Amino acid sequence: MPLHHGHEPQSEERAHVCNPFLTEANPALGEDVVPPRHRLADGPVPAEVAYQLVHDELLLDGNARLNLATFVTTWMEPQAGQLMSECLDKNMIDKDEYPQTAELEQRCVTILADLWHAPDPTEAIGCSTTGSSEACMLAGMALKRRWRARRGADSQGRPNLVMGANVQICWEKFCNYWEVDIRLAPMEGSRFHLDAPSAVALCDENTIGVVAVLGSTFDGSYEPVGEIAAALDDLQARTGIDIPVHVDGASGAMIAPFLDPELVWDFRLPRVTSINTSGHKYGLVYPGVGWAVWRTKEALPAELVFNVNYLGGNMPTFALNFSRPGSEVVAQYYTFLRLGHSGFRQVQRASRDIAQYVSGQIEAMGPFALITRGDQLPVFAFTTKPEITAYDVFDVSRRLRERGWLVPAYTFPENRTDLAVLRVVVRNGFSRDLADLLLADLGRLLPELAQQPGPAATSSTTPFHH
Ligand SMILES: Cc1ncc(COP(=O)(O)O)c(C=O)c1O
Repeated sequence: MPLHHGHEPQSEERAHVCNPFLTEANPALGEDVVPPRHRLADGPVPAEVAYQLVHDELLLDGNARLNLATFVTTWMEPQAGQLMSECLDKNMIDKDEYPQTAELEQRCVTILADLWHAPDPTEAIGCSTTGSSEACMLAGMALKRRWRARRGADSQGRPNLVMGANVQICWEKFCNYWEVDIRLAPMEGSRFHLDAPSAVALCDENTIGVVAVLGSTFDGSYEPVGEIAAALDDLQARTGIDIPVHVDGASGAMIAPFLDPELVWDFRLPRVTSINTSGHKYGLVYPGVGWAVWRTKEALPAELVFNVNYLGGNMPTFALNFSRPGSEVVAQYYTFLRLGHSGFRQVQRASRDIAQYVSGQIEAMGPFALITRGDQLPVFAFTTKPEITAYDVFDVSRRLRERGWLVPAYTFPENRTDLAVLRVVVRNGFSRDLADLLLADLGRLLPELAQQPGPAATSSTTPFHH
C-alpha cells in the first residue's frame, strides 16, 4: 500500500449542490449535507447516495480493460463473479467453519503440484496467498531456514540470495524485511535477465537459494531455469555447496505448462524446491490470489507451519496474514474446473498469438525496435530506434494515454539505465479487435510525434516496479 498522508482540513470545503435532478431525487445530496471526504460525517447518508458518490468518484480511474500495464486479470465470466459474490463473507482462515472452501484450496494446491510435475502431487505441500509477493516471502523464509539448518551452529556469515537485477520488487522487500543480503546479477549488454554463469558467480556457502524468474517482469522473457540448475549441480560436484532454486513463476508458471510443455523448468528439475505463481495473473482470477508450492514436505521446514482448527482437528497453515477472503480461492478452483488443460491452452495461446501479432505490427511501423516479441510470456517490450530523435518512449506512453491506453514506459535497471522501453502485457480479454484499435491509435499519433522538436523531457528515471 502507498503510505498516505493526511489532508489539510480546508480541503474539506465543498461546493453546494443545487441541481434539482439531484436534490429532488436524493434530498440528502442537497446543500449542506454533502458528506466530508477526509473525516467521518456527523451521521449516516442514505445507501443510494453513498453508492452514487463513490461510484461517480471512481469514474476517474483508468479503464481496466485498456490497461496494458498490468499482468492482473481484468475480466472473468459472470458465473465466476457470482460465485465470488456468494463467498465474499467467507474468511479463508476459518477452515473449521468453511471446510469446503478449505477443501477447494487443497485441491488447487494438488492441481498445481501436478501441473508442475511434483514427484508425488499428493505429497507436495502448498498454500494460497494474497499474491505472488506473499508467496515469494514464504518461499524465501523456507530457503533461509533450510540454509540455517544446513549450516548448523557454526554458521558465521550472513545469508544471501542470488537473482537477476530484473527481479520484481517483492524480492528486494524479502531481503530487506528478512535481513538477507541481496546479490543481483546486473544486466549486461543485451542480456536482460539472469543466466547460469552470472548466477553461479555470485554463489557461496551462505547462499540460501537462487531465484529464477519465469517470465521477467521487465520484458516477458523466460530465464533459463534448466541451465541455472545444471550449473548449480556442477557447482555442487566441484565444491559440495548445495544451493536450491526457487522459481518465481508469477506469470510463466501458468503459461509454460500449457504452451511450452517441452520446456523443463519445474519440479522435473530436482534442484527446484519451490514455485510460486499469481492466480490473479495468468491463473485468470480477479486480484488477489497467489500460490506457493514446495516439491515435498521436507522442503518446507516444519517449524514455519502453524496449526489451525479444522473440523475439530488441526490443519497446517503457512501465511503472513491471518484473515483473507475465500472468494478468490473459490474462483481459482472454478477456473481450473471450467477450463481444464485444453481450455487453459486455448486461452493462453490466444493471448500469445495476439502479443506476437501486435509486436510484429509495431516492428513493421518502422520507428521501433523490439526487445522481446511476446513469444514467451504474452508480453513484449520495445524501444525507439536510435535515429528517432523527435520523441521518446515516454512521449508515446503519454500520447497513448490520451486515448485511454495504459502502456507504461520505464528505464531498465542499473547497467542498462540508458535503455527506456514501452511494455505491452496481453491478457485474456485483449481481443484482436482491441489490438487493431491500439495499433491504429499508435499509427495515427506517430506523424504528430515526428513533428516535435524533441522529446518532451517528462521522462521518468524512476525504475519500474510492476
Ligand atoms: C516475476 C514477478 N514476481 C512477483 C510479482 C508480484 O506479484 P503479485 O502482484 O501477485 O504480488 C510480479 C508482479 O508483477 C512478478 O512479475
